Amino acid sequence: MSDDTLFARIKDEANRTDPYPLFAALRECPVSRQEDGTYVAASHAAISSLLHDPRVSSETLPPADRPKTGNSLADWLVKPVRDYITDTHRPFIFRDPPDHDTLRAAVMHQFTHQRVQAMRARSHQLVDEILDKLGDARTIDIVNDLAYPLPVTIICELLGVPPEDEEKFHGWATQLATALEPDNLQNDEARAENSRTFDVISEYMKGLIAQKRRDPQDDMLTGLAGKGADGAPRMGDFDLIATAILMLVAGHETTVNLITNGMLTLLRHPEELRRLREDPSRAPRVVEELLRYEPPVQFRTRTALCPIPHGDVTIPEGAPVVLMLAAGNRDPEVYAEPDRFDPDRTDNRHLGFGGSLHYCVGAPLARFEVEAALVALTRRLRNPRLIADPPPYRPGSALRGPKHLRLAIDGID
Ligand code: HEM
Repeated sequence: MSDDTLFARIKDEANRTDPYPLFAALRECPVSRQEDGTYVAASHAAISSLLHDPRVSSETLPPADRPKTGNSLADWLVKPVRDYITDTHRPFIFRDPPDHDTLRAAVMHQFTHQRVQAMRARSHQLVDEILDKLGDARTIDIVNDLAYPLPVTIICELLGVPPEDEEKFHGWATQLATALEPDNLQNDEARAENSRTFDVISEYMKGLIAQKRRDPQDDMLTGLAGKGADGAPRMGDFDLIATAILMLVAGHETTVNLITNGMLTLLRHPEELRRLREDPSRAPRVVEELLRYEPPVQFRTRTALCPIPHGDVTIPEGAPVVLMLAAGNRDPEVYAEPDRFDPDRTDNRHLGFGGSLHYCVGAPLARFEVEAALVALTRRLRNPRLIADPPPYRPGSALRGPKHLRLAIDGID
């Protein structure tokens, strides 16, 4: 097997259930050139080094075409959000410093300790409410019944979306979940569908922002829509809309997949499931190991701003650079027995939330949500059994997780 074909095989849906042998083959070369001119970093060391390298850009356009900060709403209205991701206006996950840092800092400022802790308690409450509603069910689909409703409700509450509008967000979140798949950015039909959703949600957000300005509340959107200490707006309106959508896209499907991957992994390791049920204080280490062992974000794509030598390879200027986080997470140079699920491992420096400038801003929130879900599922589901193993997977390779995870149960306590 030639290295050149490995990335294509990883993206192939046929390999979705178990891409890990392909990652092992990929790791034989820390940075390898693929047939299409993409460079893939697969070792933990290469990924970490490129994550920190300012010559590696998160912008998808050549430097000359990059957007300026402070895009006004008027600019954006003439150039609709149709071009949200690949053209001029993008959320900060697709931007480099200094724009990225300014926008990210404004968001981090809103992730107050108090707010995140409140969401921790709320996650436990929501999970219990969801399970209570399932009553005396004898089968449960972890994806549809629990993992989907939880993160979208949490993000809506965090942003300050009124409860009566939350239902709309459930549909949008499902649609937008596919938007970040690299293949969908090339596919005209998928792009058109995503653009329509972006237009609808952007219209909604414009209205909500205006409402927050008229009637400020204690929520993230009110905070972001307000003024900073210097009296200037924290963000232009377009950036505000883009940021709100980013929170929904980045914080939804990722969390859904970690909950689902988590339950699947625990059912495949019954001893770990039993230990978590008997001792819920193990939840943080279980979640940390899941982020290493079955990370929802398997890879992220960047661009080389100039030639970047790495070992025997030089990544040319303009080349796409794939950071294969999931391969780095199983690197035997870093982890003893990397293919073993072991929540008790020490020094788990996983790449599940990325690293450096773009490290996940929602990491504390995501951890709490997934802990709440797994603790309740292991404690309350009586005798859970997988109906299909492997379960059916969603097509996406960058964001990987089961489409459904159906369990037979003897009841819900
Ligand atoms: C960035 C993973 C949950 C918001 C990232 C990145 C990863 C990641 C790998 C780095 C992207 C890059 O380097 O290009 C995850 C996983 C989650 C999760 C696995 C759930 C288990 C959340 C939640 C939120 C969120 C709940 C918000 C409510 C963001 C944002 C960024 C980000 C805004 C961009 C940060 C930046 O560009 O500076 N996430 N995430 N994520 N995540 Fe998460």
